[in-house]
Amino acid sequence: KPSLAELARAKGLRVGSAMNARQLDDANYRALILRECETIVAENEHKMYVIQPDPGPMNFAPSDALADFARTNGLKMRGHTLVWHHPRWLPDWINETEFSSPSAAEAELRRYISAVASRNQDVIYSWDVVNEAVDETTGEYRETSYSRAMGGAPEVIDACFRIARDAAPGATLAYNDYMSWEGGSANHRTGVLRLLEDLHKRGTPIDALGVQSHSNQDMPDEFTPAKKRAWRAFVDDVTSMGFDIYLTEFDVNDTRLPPDPALRDRIIAAYTEEYLGMMLEYEEVKDLLVWGMTDRDSWLQTFLPREDGVEKRPAPYDSRFRPKPMRDAIARALRQA
Ligand code: G3I
Repeated sequence: KPSLAELARAKGLRVGSAMNARQLDDANYRALILRECETIVAENEHKMYVIQPDPGPMNFAPSDALADFARTNGLKMRGHTLVWHHPRWLPDWINETEFSSPSAAEAELRRYISAVASRNQDVIYSWDVVNEAVDETTGEYRETSYSRAMGGAPEVIDACFRIARDAAPGATLAYNDYMSWEGGSANHRTGVLRLLEDLHKRGTPIDALGVQSHSNQDMPDEFTPAKKRAWRAFVDDVTSMGFDIYLTEFDVNDTRLPPDPALRDRIIAAYTEEYLGMMLEYEEVKDLLVWGMTDRDSWLQTFLPREDGVEKRPAPYDSRFRPKPMRDAIARALRQA
């Protein structure tokens, strides 16, 4: 049976998964990654709150360990993320800094991004330079200590991409966010589109939009034709500006589905095939990464647990590492791409 990576490669695509430092010590997880994936992305280890939680020395050990694993095993790697432009996920010491001038803020960004993006360039082919800078409800830019100093988020983001291009000239550079096709997110899409148009006009060195693809609590049966049309219009607008698309964090949240595991698996698989079928029609889509290979390891178990306490099933493999219908749905979507 061909692996997901083989099926993807035949179509000029890369398939991969998030992986974290803890999973490096798990032989079963390592084997699953090596069996199915061509690329990995660090779930948390490249984030600023891991690399530099305090203004002291930078901690590259966890992200280097993942890059070493990729290198040793002939895998590729995406970098996630240089600047998570959201105060909640920036270290306190950055949130508390009052930069004395725009250039002081830019110098701090240059110091940090240059150090991180220049490492492991032999395996890291792409960076999420900036993550989640647009507020999901209002579509406005999130404010940070950088944006207060530099006159606005677009100025910060433009600078981040220029610095990343200098530091890692061989890597493709993406803006990554979770805008989706679901109800209530029209403002989010509009805000992201405005950002991309702004960067496009400035000549910012950005290659791609990362579409995280966490499906939300609204469930697949609500993926109506009207929502699909609105979503396609958004993707068309993005690709017509010349951007590639990476599906960077795919999983299916089953918060509101009935508890029966087999039923949930069928609904999730049908949704997976429908969503990926639609997205893989775009030749601009280059990567498909899932946000964790197994239900056991999904962030959704603890972040958004089900009210009935039943284990969630958002990933292609179950907690005992058995392939689920979702895995075969991904395979079918890749075959049809
Ligand atoms: O490392 C500490 C550990 O020492 C401590 O015992 C434990 C207790 O809570 O917390 C651990 O840190 C957690 C970390 O994950 C590692 O597991 C943080 O609390 C937790 O907030 C963090 O969550 C991550 C989250 O991003 C925030 O950074 C998730 O694992 C990760 O899956 C999630 O990934 C994000 C993407 O980066 C961006 N898109 C959305 C996606 C899902 O939220």
